[in-house]
Amino acid sequence: MNAPVPNDLEAYWMGFTPNRAFKKKPRMFVAADGMYYTTHDGRQVMDGIAGLWCCNAGHNQPRIVKAVQKQVAELDYSPGFQMGHPKAFELANRLKSIMPGDLNHVFFVNSGSESVETALKIAIAYHRARGEGHRVRLIGREKGYHGVNFGGMSVGGMPANRKMFGALVTGVDHLRHTHGLEENLFTRGQPEHGVEFADDLERLCDLHDPSTIAAVIVEPIAGSAGVIMPPKGYLERLRAITKKHGILLILDEVITGFGRMGKPFASNYFDLDADIVCTAKAIANGVIPMGAVFAHDHVYDAFMQGPEELIELFHGYTYSANPVACAAALATLDTYEQDGLFL
Ligand SMILES: Cc1ncc(COP(=O)(O)O)c(C=O)c1O
Repeated sequence: MNAPVPNDLEAYWMGFTPNRAFKKKPRMFVAADGMYYTTHDGRQVMDGIAGLWCCNAGHNQPRIVKAVQKQVAELDYSPGFQMGHPKAFELANRLKSIMPGDLNHVFFVNSGSESVETALKIAIAYHRARGEGHRVRLIGREKGYHGVNFGGMSVGGMPANRKMFGALVTGVDHLRHTHGLEENLFTRGQPEHGVEFADDLERLCDLHDPSTIAAVIVEPIAGSAGVIMPPKGYLERLRAITKKHGILLILDEVITGFGRMGKPFASNYFDLDADIVCTAKAIANGVIPMGAVFAHDHVYDAFMQGPEELIELFHGYTYSANPVACAAALATLDTYEQDGLFL
């Protein structure tokens, strides 16, 4: 298939792209099927990273295509505030059934960045709901990537993504990253050395006092500053320290979710029980923007207090649980399951 490149490329301001260089020599995809993209000049390009780590079942999956087409014609949109539609509840139930532990409540969003903002807001509001409003600090990690919105950028640890945007969110600190130990050179899988990097959290607790810290957020495997496996025992120790100090552990599984580890989540792979888990990307196989934040029972329950007719969390998006996104996600889960990809 050959397709013409538009003459005027100026209007579209592309993200994370050197726009002027790109527009001098554009690279365009015009179709995708299975593991391959087709370029505008008819070449086949293997999709080695599944889009942006999001098309985990490959492109043009018939179940997803059909489900989206059907849903658009049946119920294209339904407000997510004060109204529901059945597929949102069905999807939340399916998702909770593949998430380990007691992360039984699902808040729908539209991207990884929104997933992270939602998780950070829930963490701060959770402590406030429990009468611990002094817990407001957020701890991220150097080299971490948690999207591009203000909260995620602030807890993130990629200098280029932060330096142009002012003072960012206040009250944020960072653990040291775990990369670069000489003893770990040429390691396959999880490195033997570096579990003590988790103790950096104790250092930050000494500095700030743990009673001021709301949450720690990390990617189980860092995915944007290189793929950085956690040292053996590191995540477990981080979990133990957060528990000891009453700090919530948020795992950002936006990349590691939905089969990237050969399991539904890194939480299964590493046998972790976080308080909040952020997901997005492959939840709907990249077809429709979607994300889901999983909250542990104890987190959800902290909000379900007081008069029942009052809103518990003043948060949500116009497209939270969009019916077409839900249909795409349900068909994606069917595909993962019925094709034996990891479910
Ligand atoms: C770990 C992680 N968190 C958050 C995000 C942000 O996701 P999005 O680009 O969908 O906003 C990404 C994106 O790559 C990511 O890798």
